[in-house]
Amino acid sequence: MTTSDKLIGLVKAGALGDKRQFQKVVETIIADEKLKKHFVVAERLEQELEKFSNQNNQKIIKKFIESKPNTVDSKLETLVNEKNPKISFDDLVFSHHIQDSLLELIEEQNRADILKSYGIAPRNRVLLIGPPGNGKTSIAEALAESLMVPLLVVRYESVIGSYLGETASRLRQIIDYASMQKCVLFFDEFETLGKERGDSHDSGEIKRIVSSLLMLIDSIPSHVVIVGATNHDELLDRAVWRRFQIRVNIPKPTRAQIETLLMKFEDRYNIKFDYAYETLSKKLYGVSFSEVEEFCRTVMRKYILNLPNKDMRNIVSLTLKNWSALNTINE
Ligand SMILES: Nc1ncnc2c1ncn2[C@@H]1O[C@H](COP(=O)(O)OP(=O)(O)O)[C@@H](O)[C@H]1O
Ligand SMILES: [Mg+2]
Repeated sequence: MTTSDKLIGLVKAGALGDKRQFQKVVETIIADEKLKKHFVVAERLEQELEKFSNQNNQKIIKKFIESKPNTVDSKLETLVNEKNPKISFDDLVFSHHIQDSLLELIEEQNRADILKSYGIAPRNRVLLIGPPGNGKTSIAEALAESLMVPLLVVRYESVIGSYLGETASRLRQIIDYASMQKCVLFFDEFETLGKERGDSHDSGEIKRIVSSLLMLIDSIPSHVVIVGATNHDELLDRAVWRRFQIRVNIPKPTRAQIETLLMKFEDRYNIKFDYAYETLSKKLYGVSFSEVEEFCRTVMRKYILNLPNKDMRNIVSLTLKNWSALNTINE
């Protein structure tokens, strides 16, 4: 069946309310997506179909996992870690401007065929800049989830070799592998690539490292979304920095965002901190998202271990006191 046949079949089955035909067409689409190695899309379709046909979820997912060939060979496995993304943008709290710039990229990627028919490639290079614990890694995963493609995380400890040639050839291998499919290729601590050797080698060596990195970046096809994360973008070579079409600052949470995070935590565990959000956010202001999360978990642990005493307000007060003693940043 061609793509348009499948589309027509799907609409026809939907319009007629023919559930069996609908299921058949979707199964064909799933099979095709697997052939194209679009495993994340196939899995998502299977899950949707499963909800629809009310069959045993585990059975289908198990079948899917068993049918997935081992795509990462053993040598590559040490260089890159491939995972099906689980975190979605809805799980995260961040400002609208971050969301908007990423939504543009998602739309360009999803409608790449149209752009390409005009001879224009979708954007595919994002640099996330900011202090640790504020969602750079999570955003890379959410981007993959939203694009319904796998997340490939580069493992620096195995990539960085003692010689430039070695490192470059490993990066080449990673990019060749990544290019075979649509995916998000994530480089955490991106500045490491230049910096590591920058400390110990002469300037000629640094130039060669940067120019080989530039060549590698330029060779990445537009269907591979490359996400670089860094705490120190000032350490990145400017030519490398400019290669990223979208550069987003990922700051620590604002007070309003801390409040949203607290509310999300309450919802997730079906509890109430029984404390004014404004007071809590004022006391916590200055820490990272992940530290706010850790504060909530500390409260939660105390709460659970103190049950049946349910004086949450008191527990929050105590935790805040210890917290303030540990962190001199408050007030
Ligand atoms: N924007 C955010 N919204 C909600 N939770 C967040 C956010 N950023 C970070 N977190 C929490 O902090 C943890 C660590 O974040 P991570 O994405 O690893 O940060 P980074 O890569 O910037 O160091 C996440 O697993 C999540 O629990
Ligand atoms: Mg990270």
